[in-house]
Amino acid sequence: MSDIAYLNSEFMKLSEAFVSVEDRGFQFGDGVYEVIRVYDKTPHLLREHVDRLKLSAASIQLDERLSYEEWERIVREGIDRSGYADAKIYIQLTRGVSPRDHRFPVSAPLTRVMTVREIDLEDPQLRESGVPTITVDDIRWNRCDIKSLNLLPNILSKQHATQAGAFEALFVRDGFVFEGSSSTIMVVRHGVLHTPPEGPRILSGITRDWVLNLARANEITVAEEPVSLEMLLGAQEVFLTGTTIEIMPVVTVDEHRIGDGKPGEIYHRLYQKFLASIS
Ligand code: PDD
Repeated sequence: MSDIAYLNSEFMKLSEAFVSVEDRGFQFGDGVYEVIRVYDKTPHLLREHVDRLKLSAASIQLDERLSYEEWERIVREGIDRSGYADAKIYIQLTRGVSPRDHRFPVSAPLTRVMTVREIDLEDPQLRESGVPTITVDDIRWNRCDIKSLNLLPNILSKQHATQAGAFEALFVRDGFVFEGSSSTIMVVRHGVLHTPPEGPRILSGITRDWVLNLARANEITVAEEPVSLEMLLGAQEVFLTGTTIEIMPVVTVDEHRIGDGKPGEIYHRLYQKFLASIS
């Protein structure tokens, strides 16, 4: 078993994959990406991830022509070559290699990268204890729905959280919370599961959709409505969702305790359903 890379139509060991210093992904962050979980050799929600990749690409005028079937073949071959049953796949598309110029290159082919690597699972103890979070100013642009490589506000906020001993930073703007630096936020109040609506201020999380469907199928009322800071702090339960963290219970926000300070009942129910849905 080994970490694998796919670079512009060729498979190789991850340690042997290199792109040019003139790649626009490196120089401008001019590209888009996806992260996909593999459970038992199966890429979870692959169609949804490929659809979102194409949507992100189209939103920045990146001419991504591979079909879903072609991506599926590449992803499956990558999983087979890696030998991993459980893995993390990263796909990145950039506007190619070209002398540095803000204008788009006229004829550079896209750079397509995929890596398949062993999954580095979160400490299972975190699901028992729940995780601390902090709030940060949402200084991001107004197209957070595009899964772009430009992640400076996200990584700075995550690092800020890490230095504060927290697991995640929650983006707040004008008194409303939008999402985490790399996760979707969900809040339970009076038994109703609230999450911010899709739009330019959040990434349309694929796990978000999956968890909301699990909630609806299990008679949990869902409200896709703006979540104020007040709602967040007064919530019975808060949790985060994302491809790698799945569902992660939150027990503090800026040292303010959520509910009784333990992962709540709706989290436990949804996480059980989530595990059943992937097995
Ligand atoms: N991030 N919001 C942001 C800003 C994210 O970066 C992510 C995921 C999510 C959750 O989306 P999904 O459920 O589709 O994974 C929400 C990935 C995992 C990352 O950047 O590594």
